[in-house]
Amino acid sequence: MKDDKKPARRSQAWFGRDDRDGFVYRSWMKNQGHPHDLFDGRPIIGICNTWSELTPCNAHFRELADWVKRGVWEAGGFPLEFPVMSLGETQLRPTAMLFRNLASMDVEESIRGNPIDGVVLMMGCDKTTPSLMMGAASVDLPTIGLSGGPMLTGRFRGQKLGSGTGVWRMSEEVRAGTMTMEEFVEAESCMHRSKGHCMTMGTASSMACMVESLGMALPGNAAIPAVDARRFTLAQLTGRRIVDMVREDLRMSRILRREAFVNAIRTNAAIGGSTNAVIHLLALAGRIGVDLKLEDWDKLGSHLPCIVDLQPSGESLMEDFFYAGGLPVVLRELGEQGLLERDALTVNGHSVWDNVREAQCYDREVIRPWNQPLRAEAGIAVLRGNLAPDGAVIKPSAATPELLRHRGRAVVFENIEHFHERINDEVLDVDETCVLVLKNCGPRGYPGMAEVGNMPLPPKLLRKGVRDMVRISDARMSGTAYGTVVLHTAPEAAAGGPLALVRDGDMISLDVPARSVTLEISDEEMAARRAAWQPPTPPRRGWARLYVDHVLQANRGADLDFLVGGSGSEVARDSH
Ligand code: FES
Repeated sequence: MKDDKKPARRSQAWFGRDDRDGFVYRSWMKNQGHPHDLFDGRPIIGICNTWSELTPCNAHFRELADWVKRGVWEAGGFPLEFPVMSLGETQLRPTAMLFRNLASMDVEESIRGNPIDGVVLMMGCDKTTPSLMMGAASVDLPTIGLSGGPMLTGRFRGQKLGSGTGVWRMSEEVRAGTMTMEEFVEAESCMHRSKGHCMTMGTASSMACMVESLGMALPGNAAIPAVDARRFTLAQLTGRRIVDMVREDLRMSRILRREAFVNAIRTNAAIGGSTNAVIHLLALAGRIGVDLKLEDWDKLGSHLPCIVDLQPSGESLMEDFFYAGGLPVVLRELGEQGLLERDALTVNGHSVWDNVREAQCYDREVIRPWNQPLRAEAGIAVLRGNLAPDGAVIKPSAATPELLRHRGRAVVFENIEHFHERINDEVLDVDETCVLVLKNCGPRGYPGMAEVGNMPLPPKLLRKGVRDMVRISDARMSGTAYGTVVLHTAPEAAAGGPLALVRDGDMISLDVPARSVTLEISDEEMAARRAAWQPPTPPRRGWARLYVDHVLQANRGADLDFLVGGSGSEVARDSH
């Protein structure tokens, strides 16, 4: 089996053996019809596929994988597709985020345990991107990302209708009595009319942009619509490229350096990206050994403008972004402002600047010039204060500017059930100056850190025309959502953070320019309330129990404590 002209491949520890084990490794694979010469030491490429009909955003991935395989074959590799846990954001209960780390373990062990030399990560729906990136990072083989692409623009009665963002807006209109249920149901078919992931700049699109700005995917990966023929072309080129990456031994750790994360954070500001990217990139950095802190988001990105006019911050959608030139244009703008780590290496072997320096913009309404931004300061602001000693985040570009400095009376919900019980109650003592506080929706509290931070407003205020209020929680928020919403408060209520101690009627002051969020009670009162606080009962068994026992707080990416870092690609050999 040995061919001395070829370098030893990792997969040859399985297929290059001349003994009984080699027979076993090869023979069972041959039941799929693979001829003997495929085991001769050519790069074996694992195609890590999150296809699932229960993950509608990734339901086209078997077809897409075939295009990857074409490229792998063309370049002289041997593609082998394998499934991993697929997290469908809209279907999975209690929240897909509860399973991000579980899926990452599936990815990590599936890669490490199998005869694979390089990996293509097929990612789309929100959590399928970070879970695959995190798991692969802990193995650190040559790896390339391929996103499934966004859906085509939703359209309803002549208007653009964006994933998620349109739901939040229309559901408030139904509650306010300005939209009928019939219209609401009709809009369901109009919003999602093609294969692909959410086409707003929600979490899926933001994470696809993160993958590209990190240098982990070929240029153009983030924005090509799922059904555009160029998505298939990109898949084929991705398949070709991973074979060469194996030959070059271009591993994730050579790409995911600190400068890559700096580029990603700045990109997230410039695109008006999701707050969820904060948590996912912190977790990914932890896996690959890059020292990234919550404050880095503020230091590196909060003063940058948003130049991409996409919902939820703006009006357009991912299809428009693609036609305008896509992410390479944004990266070029960053580079021209001295805000891009130009030498950061990418999967194609070129620097990020080499990839984007010639990028052209074809629609300046969608990708604005740097000096005519959509929002002047758009990145993630990190807040501190006695209500969030370990930090909280807010996306100022999605907030009401007048509310970024606000003092109001707390209306407190102990958990999401308590919120649902009270929010529609006409006698709820609340007005538009109040601050809605939601507890026990953090990593441990929910558990899984649900996307409920953008709490719906009380109907009686909606009827008055109120469309935004200050809201504070330890939850996350859908990347498609908007509002003056303080998220990821750490430590969370279920971990005994000060959020747990807020009571109805307390005064809270938010000062985003000063980066503070303050509960206006004395230290003595805080201590007295803390002494009386009782931790919630943890889940009794199963994954939820393991998760609650080990999950880190949001400011550390909500990874499990024992998953931080990696174990590399070495694996003990079994014997048949
Ligand atoms: Fe899958 Fe939005 S629900 S990307």
